[in-house]
Amino acid sequence: MNPRIAPSLLSADFSRLATEIAEVEAAGADLLHLDLMDGHFVPNLTFGPPVVAALARVATIPLDAHLMVTDPDALIPELAAVGVSRTAVHVETCRHLHRTLAGIRETGMEAGVAVNPASSLTLLDEVLGDIDFVLIMSVNPGFGGQAFIQSSLAKISRLRQLLGDRDVDISVDGGVDAGTAGPLTAAGATTLIAGSAVFGAHDRARALALLREAALRGNDP
Ligand code: DX5
Ligand code: ZN
Repeated sequence: MNPRIAPSLLSADFSRLATEIAEVEAAGADLLHLDLMDGHFVPNLTFGPPVVAALARVATIPLDAHLMVTDPDALIPELAAVGVSRTAVHVETCRHLHRTLAGIRETGMEAGVAVNPASSLTLLDEVLGDIDFVLIMSVNPGFGGQAFIQSSLAKISRLRQLLGDRDVDISVDGGVDAGTAGPLTAAGATTLIAGSAVFGAHDRARALALLREAALRGNDP
């Protein structure tokens, strides 16, 4: 499977979101990654469902919601209602992870579990059959532009092994750039989320092309 590239809107210019989205869509982005932060689970605050609803009206590629909030259950129906395609909740925030994942799938969205750098993959053991994707955090969540945590590569390889022949996407979020993209797909990542590497670049089309080229090289050494 060709790796997918999902620009993360967190590093875009918030005063011109529609234009920013159109630009990465024209450059061939596969998904649009949206970081919802509540200032509690992570020390940063972004936007919620009303902004996502506005973005959904202009975006033509699938929306990928990443919930960095202490109470993700409250947001799930609203996100589904505005047309978000897939939603990841953090394993660290869910008391009843199985119920939350079932709730996401019931809305018709794909369900994902995000895992912080310090959280063990063993937390996923009992839900591997209930998810469509895992979101491996390769930085501590909250901010764009942080350095990639190298141990994430071995974690991704272990996860790919654990998943066996299950059709589960491995997405990676944090510090993804043309340097880390190849090793990430080689380790088993199938979706690369990149904020500053895309929106921090003057030429977004070139940034996306470089990422895709590196990702494909890693996929097929
Ligand atoms: C961080 C967010 C990421 C962020 C990644 O908590 O989840 O999606 O935008 O930014 P970069 O790609 O700059 O590390
Ligand atoms: Zn994210």
